[in-house]
Amino acid sequence: MRKIQVKIPSCPKSSYCVAVGSGFLSEVLPQIKKAMPGKELFLITDANIAKTKHLKNFLGRQQLPRFIISPAGEKSKNIKTVIKIIEEMEKRTLGRDCAVIALGGGTVGDIAGFVAAIYKRGVPVIQIPTTTVSQADSAIGGKTGVDSSISKNAFGAFKNPAAVFIDVRTLETLDKEQFNTGLVESIKHGLIADEKYLKYLQKNLKAILARKSEPLEYIAVKNCQIKASVVEADPYEKNKRRILNYGHTIGHAVESASNYKILHGQAVAIGIIAANIIEQKRGLADEKRLEELKNLFAKLDISLKIPKSITKKQILDAVKRDKKAVKKWPPFVLLEKTGKVLCRNDRFAHNVERKVVEETIDILLRQK
Ligand code: GLY
Repeated sequence: MRKIQVKIPSCPKSSYCVAVGSGFLSEVLPQIKKAMPGKELFLITDANIAKTKHLKNFLGRQQLPRFIISPAGEKSKNIKTVIKIIEEMEKRTLGRDCAVIALGGGTVGDIAGFVAAIYKRGVPVIQIPTTTVSQADSAIGGKTGVDSSISKNAFGAFKNPAAVFIDVRTLETLDKEQFNTGLVESIKHGLIADEKYLKYLQKNLKAILARKSEPLEYIAVKNCQIKASVVEADPYEKNKRRILNYGHTIGHAVESASNYKILHGQAVAIGIIAANIIEQKRGLADEKRLEELKNLFAKLDISLKIPKSITKKQILDAVKRDKKAVKKWPPFVLLEKTGKVLCRNDRFAHNVERKVVEETIDILLRQK
């Protein structure tokens, strides 16, 4: 037998810029065109954004070939939508020299990023997130993908954006439920990395909910800094990046058991409560943080009640299908204290016995 070694030079160091501001959406397209001269641009957005002033504001007098995802939301986050978009790009004879622009929330960003990752083996993507979830989390870090009929993000790829533009004024048109539940990702960042930031969110909640530009810009910058520091240390989620999944293991399970009727942020809030219950059972936390978090979620009008139609078995089955599961059981991220994730033997995710998870789900199901 002869062996031939194929040497792949390590990826060149790459970085991208996240621009944060208020009311600059109309300046973004000229900036992209200047930075990518000669590139054909293809816009992906959704039916919600198409109804708002943001699309007009972004395009100005320009026109771009586009695909409008309809209906907006998780329902469309599937491989059929990806095929439709790719065929639309092919019909327009877009080559490898095109670039995709994602204007919208997490669903648009995830679909557009995935399309960009696989179209002709990869074209650049520019993310312009317009929701609290996507500005805090999904537009940064390069995770892209779509759901299968069985689980969330079953098809996926890492595709770092060429640039991210966050205009906090795009949050103006979000409905209250979307706006508030999206703030859960910011709360998660405070819990895993910065207690002072969590306090800031609690103290300034009124101004944030009034959608004042100053606190919104502050939290956008803070979220990007926290997320960037984690992603830079572990871009492909071998270990540390798992801390960004705090509250997501049971959260995703509840979200998928509800057939995506529960919004992502609400499901993560339930998952954060679950993590806190597990932390208490392990002697890592007392009642105080759990009560504080319940209060904070109540102020955001986020219900922690799991719909009656969802059973313990459905949640447990979804936990077993978690992408990080090894031998059908995922490791859990836990806090050592507020602002600090538990790290043992250099590992950031830990085994939690099935019995403890089952007891925690029982408590969640009894929640009023
Ligand atoms: N949303 C979790 C991550 O980006 O890793």
